[in-house]
Amino acid sequence: MNILGISAHYHDSAAALVVDGVPVCAVQEERLSRHKGDATFPLLAIELCLEQAGIEPDELDAVVFYERPMLKFDRILTCALRAFPHSWRAFPKAMKNSLGEKVWMRGIISSQLGVPGRKILFTEHHQSHAAAAFLTAPTRRAAIMTADAVGEWATLSVGDGERVLNGPTRIRSFREIRFPHSLGMLYSTFTAYLGFKVNEDEYKVMGLAAYGRPTLVDQARKLIRRTPDGAFALDLNYFEFHTTAERSYSSRFIELFGPPRNPYEPINLETAEGQRFADCAASVQRVLEDTLVEIARALHQETGFEDLCLGGGVALNGVANARLLAESGFERIFVPPAPGDAGCAIGAALHCDRIHFGNPDQDLPDHPFWGPSVDGSELARLAREDGHFAVELEEGALIDQIANDLAAGRIVGWMEGALEFGPRALGHRSILAAPHTTEMRDRLNREIKYREAFRPFAPVVPIDAAAHYFDIPPGGQRLARFMSGVFSVRPEWRQRLEAITHIDGSARVQVLEPAMAPRLHALLKAYGQRTGIPVLLNTSFNLAGEPIVNRAVEGYSTFLRCKIDVLVAGGTRVVKRTSATAKIEAERRKEEVA
Ligand SMILES: [Fe+2]
Repeated sequence: MNILGISAHYHDSAAALVVDGVPVCAVQEERLSRHKGDATFPLLAIELCLEQAGIEPDELDAVVFYERPMLKFDRILTCALRAFPHSWRAFPKAMKNSLGEKVWMRGIISSQLGVPGRKILFTEHHQSHAAAAFLTAPTRRAAIMTADAVGEWATLSVGDGERVLNGPTRIRSFREIRFPHSLGMLYSTFTAYLGFKVNEDEYKVMGLAAYGRPTLVDQARKLIRRTPDGAFALDLNYFEFHTTAERSYSSRFIELFGPPRNPYEPINLETAEGQRFADCAASVQRVLEDTLVEIARALHQETGFEDLCLGGGVALNGVANARLLAESGFERIFVPPAPGDAGCAIGAALHCDRIHFGNPDQDLPDHPFWGPSVDGSELARLAREDGHFAVELEEGALIDQIANDLAAGRIVGWMEGALEFGPRALGHRSILAAPHTTEMRDRLNREIKYREAFRPFAPVVPIDAAAHYFDIPPGGQRLARFMSGVFSVRPEWRQRLEAITHIDGSARVQVLEPAMAPRLHALLKAYGQRTGIPVLLNTSFNLAGEPIVNRAVEGYSTFLRCKIDVLVAGGTRVVKRTSATAKIEAERRKEEVA
């Protein structure tokens, strides 16, 4: 049975194909179209999915859209009517921004793919999030919590799931919190207030929070109150996102927290103003964590389960996830590599397979690599055409050479196997570097990533060495599998791991099991043999404002436009002509001296 899942028209469109119960391909449209956060109907992603499986659209048994457009339409219309006449200007804009063509989704899918309307199905948005979190996790029984900005109406849902190998699957939602009461919107409102891009830069707020103290937490608590039934409600006097598309916070919000940040001015943490913004970030972060922990704790008591599956964009908050692990009572927390809306494509397809069609449950591969594979020989050809130094090496020689490069302080663009699905580079499209000094961090920020100095880089470490360098609690390794938790760097290692240690001593570490990315694992070991520390800095392979690279040609073009020293794709290693020439000259000089 071939089931295509589609997520589109909000941000970060994606498609995923499930064949006989197992995903065969999942990819975000932006990685193929090369427009960051591409929200258009994901035709390229769909085409790729079909191509990977070698099937035509008429061989699809179902196409599932990741939410119910009419319910979303209902929510936007209801909110506009409630806020009338204040909303009369905003309504058409909200319709265009949030809804666009979605209401006509069945017709659009049918005409784009030539699939009859009866084969086109819809899941609820939070069902898609829940399915993406639970059905891809290696657990049979778990509590499920999903939280995001908003889908149709739900913004947070709690429930549970049970699946029997080769048998039936059940996913239940016990309760949900509805728009406009939303933890995601609360966080996004601060994202906008702090001058960052909503739906994109929420992680910058989390990064900034480490520089602040939650001195404004009492003010932040005024925005959200817990209700006697265990839910929460926002005090809507402080918000405007539910009535206008222009601004998400109200004048009362500004009275409480002060003037918003001008997005065009850098944040200077040396000034009182800069510190206030960091304190705002720390305060909303604290309120988010406290609320999630309380809801999860109640869910733990209610279900008695050991495992929690987390979905929705809020699950990208690694600091909150680590607190949930420490304080909610759950022993393990599973966050999929793509907990946000792109991941709903895989969630919708799996939900359709297991629940709608009732197909038997299967264990799924536990990795994020569902995209197209990179071709090393393509890189060799491109580089040689331009006169760069390219060699194709055997596995062992390549690992040795790259470990030497990294130990010598070179920055490496690393492309290997299939592209990651989700926002994080987990070892197949990464920029790797030595993690030891702040000079390296600053060099990466300045010369390659062109980004704010306050943002930390993440480390990757083999699973057997993780506890030596990082303070990872029981269950934390699972969270760290897909970089979903922030944990402490052990104090005795912070000085030697400066480039990946955040201001508060933490790191969003990826703990790597050899089977997930064997080549990167071998590289970490080889690097450890040379330097004594098998840890590398691992940041996504892209420049600011661009999506993560996909094919060799995109890695190569990025390599040429920034100061990455060495580029690897498959077995091919390329050095920039300048560095190669310099090396040859240095060797010649050495020979002359000898
Ligand atoms: Fe969502």
